[in-house]
Amino acid sequence: MSQPARSIQRPWQQTPEDLAVRAELEAGLMAQDAVISPKYLYDPLGSKLFEAICALPEYYPTRTEAAIFAAHASDIAAAVGTGVTLIDLGAGNCAKAAGLFPALKPRQYVPIDISADFLRDAVDGLRQTFPDIPMHEVAMDFSASLELPATVNRDRRLFFYPGSSLGNFDPQQALAFLRRMRHALQIGEAGGVLLGLDLVKDSGVLDAAYDDELGVTAAFNLNMLNHVNRLLGADFNPRDWRHVGFYNAERQRVEMHLEARRDLIVRWEGGRRTFLQGERIHTENSHKFTPEDILDLLEQAGFGDCKMWFDPQRWFAVCHARAR
Ligand code: AVJ
Repeated sequence: MSQPARSIQRPWQQTPEDLAVRAELEAGLMAQDAVISPKYLYDPLGSKLFEAICALPEYYPTRTEAAIFAAHASDIAAAVGTGVTLIDLGAGNCAKAAGLFPALKPRQYVPIDISADFLRDAVDGLRQTFPDIPMHEVAMDFSASLELPATVNRDRRLFFYPGSSLGNFDPQQALAFLRRMRHALQIGEAGGVLLGLDLVKDSGVLDAAYDDELGVTAAFNLNMLNHVNRLLGADFNPRDWRHVGFYNAERQRVEMHLEARRDLIVRWEGGRRTFLQGERIHTENSHKFTPEDILDLLEQAGFGDCKMWFDPQRWFAVCHARAR
């Protein structure tokens, strides 16, 4: 079970956040069924690989959602209203929100993302194109807290959560997260959510979308190991691991895993773990919804007046709901 030597990197200093990240990663790796949170997919290269995924023929969600926004722009704008405080959760390259600017004319744009450098570059570019929209980027892990800086307007907030990112949470966590959004909103006209959610469909379509021919999704998944190496000072060798992505119909979710190609030991500062050949690290769930699931979830989270828009194949849904 020997492993080629890989350098262990020691950060110069560790903030409390770094220690929390290390503790979370270590707990996940030591668990009986090992896990790494999908948020660690998004280092700078991971964010670029996700952009590449969105351009793949098999990965239908991004373009299907864009088509829904394009086809129903005026209906969506009529439901949402103009002059909102547009809070973009997991903004990434900010392209989706920017596409809504002409119709929504936001009073303030607040892109939030865990990947600080990627976000700053994106917003700098956007400021050139839309000099009249005040923008206030926030680099934070919003899955941990939705506590926003005082400079973010309180009224007419719209939480924009596209791309079916809500599906990364388990159903219970998704409900809790929607409730947290609800508590950060004022009632009625003043606040709402605009979500993009991927729908249950033929499993062949889903399998292909998460295990594409070119291996871009595989690279995206495997890149997480290099990210974890930097965060934890670990010695994962991505060549020892294989991407696994498939639809689990029973649990209504796509699962991504990394599977050990041989027996091996992974070491990091303060720990180690043996993985046997075929053993997996669970890296992401991507839950799929029925329109009824979406209505139930929003109702339970304290939202009402829900409107939904679909593509002709009903592969994806865009949904607006108000705080009640
Ligand atoms: C950004 C979480 C919505 O689940 O489809 C793409 C991430 N994972 N391919 C998704 C992803 C594998 C994506 N989300």
